Amino acid sequence: MVSEKIAQLINEQIAKEQYAAQYYLSMSAWFNSRDLEGIANYFRVQSKEELMHADKMFDYLADVGGEIVIGEIPKPPHTFADVQDVFEKALEHERVVTRSIFNIVKAANDEGDFATTSFLQWFINEQVEEESSASLLVSKIKMVKDNPSALYLFDQELSQRVFVPENGK
Ligand code: FEO
Repeated sequence: MVSEKIAQLINEQIAKEQYAAQYYLSMSAWFNSRDLEGIANYFRVQSKEELMHADKMFDYLADVGGEIVIGEIPKPPHTFADVQDVFEKALEHERVVTRSIFNIVKAANDEGDFATTSFLQWFINEQVEEESSASLLVSKIKMVKDNPSALYLFDQELSQRVFVPENGK
């Protein structure tokens, strides 16, 4: 049985993951309206992954008998300065999510709740990957943003990303 405090933190994290999904969907729409459909695809897939993260937490909370309380999801921004700004915001957001997950791990550790720390290990690893990918994309967009041919190829590259549900299980 999970404590009320940990259940509340996980409920809050579910809402944060759902917010991240909305945020990335907003980024996807921004690129879509600029005919950069490959990058739009990348963020659409990212949005689906975030919903899967929320689902994983939902299932865990149900498994450990925590009360699930669905939170309010704020409206994400829908305007961005330029293509680089979007990628920088995505990286910034992943860092926020990482800190938030670390915060739950710390609380679970303090309580000796090893089931939750074990469950969250998957998310810690996932955040390492997500921050790494987001950081790489910031570097790449800086290289290509002022060169239409390079940006076209970058867009093509990101069109290849597909949603793989197994990644989140
Ligand atoms: Fe679910 Fe991108 O963190």
